[in-house]
Amino acid sequence: MPASAVVEVDLQGLLPKIATGKVRDLYAVDENTLLFVASDRISAFDVVMQNGIPGKGALLTAMSIYWFKYLKGKIPTLKTHFLWDELPERLITSLDQSLSDALRPRSMQVRRLQIVPIESIVRGYITGSAWSEYKRSGTVHGIHLPSGLIEGQKLPTPLWTPSTKAEVGDKDENISPEQAKKFIGNDRVAGEIERLSLQIYVAAAARAEEVGIILADTKFEFGLGGENGNEVVLVDEVLTPDSSRFWPKETWSSHLGRAQPSFDKQYLRDWLVSQNLKGKHGVIIPDEVVERTASKYREACELLIGRKC
Ligand SMILES: Nc1ncnc2c1ncn2[C@@H]1O[C@H](COP(=O)(O)OP(=O)(O)OP(=O)(O)O)[C@@H](O)[C@H]1O
Ligand SMILES: [Mg+2]
Repeated sequence: MPASAVVEVDLQGLLPKIATGKVRDLYAVDENTLLFVASDRISAFDVVMQNGIPGKGALLTAMSIYWFKYLKGKIPTLKTHFLWDELPERLITSLDQSLSDALRPRSMQVRRLQIVPIESIVRGYITGSAWSEYKRSGTVHGIHLPSGLIEGQKLPTPLWTPSTKAEVGDKDENISPEQAKKFIGNDRVAGEIERLSLQIYVAAAARAEEVGIILADTKFEFGLGGENGNEVVLVDEVLTPDSSRFWPKETWSSHLGRAQPSFDKQYLRDWLVSQNLKGKHGVIIPDEVVERTASKYREACELLIGRKC
């Protein structure tokens, strides 16, 4: 793993930048193709930290690519935006070796698509904002659930629990499946997104269980492509510690009713809260927190994809 984090990449104007997310930068390769670059930036409570986690972008990219291939094997009709894990020729020939070495493992080329503006969340276990809502009203995204569930419990069946996709700086809002369908405005597309999300969750959760990981919940995004823009395509990152809650199976039952240990930024979140820095901008994460976070991400990556990350 490199010693320093890659929080900014400079493509020296070789490709036009079309968007900057909290973690990713998107560049146009051509009309139909994007270079999708995962930086080492990390966000917590919707705010990006000043420094990054060395190697995180490469790890997220390796995991997403692993899952795109794995899921296509399990769900042959699934369409994904993934095209190649190579850099475009133009960059390979023009960039310094050190820059292309930093860029290559963090990048993939993907289909450029119209994004459906919802976060397609699937939950197999009750935790986080779903647990808060359930305690308040006995519902999860407006769906009534049996009484007496405890925090971290497995749900009777995985639930599709979408949220709005907020603009930069805003918070995503949990909505009911009916609201999401209205919001998407096309019943067939909405139904397809729900069906695919649940199918992918079930396939991925089974794979994770094999290596001792519980996929508690996860978030997908979908785009529209094809002739008339009516082909539903899985996009973005998939099934990474940034988009999912992964829990060690071994400690799950002994932690029911309280927070589960997890393979994600929990250590960073806990540190931010303890320092009264939750939601503050410009935070520099100390080395120890960087290392603990990096090692959790690495552990999840290696277990899931079955090779060194
Ligand atoms: N194939 C694609 N075509 C066009 N845009 C895409 C495609 N795949 C993903 N995107 C968009 O690229 C962006 C990815 O950047 P990033 O994940 O950093 O953004 P973010 O949504 O601000 O962060 P977070 O996921 O932490 O909320 C998202 O806005 C996503 O909707
Ligand atoms: Mg994102």
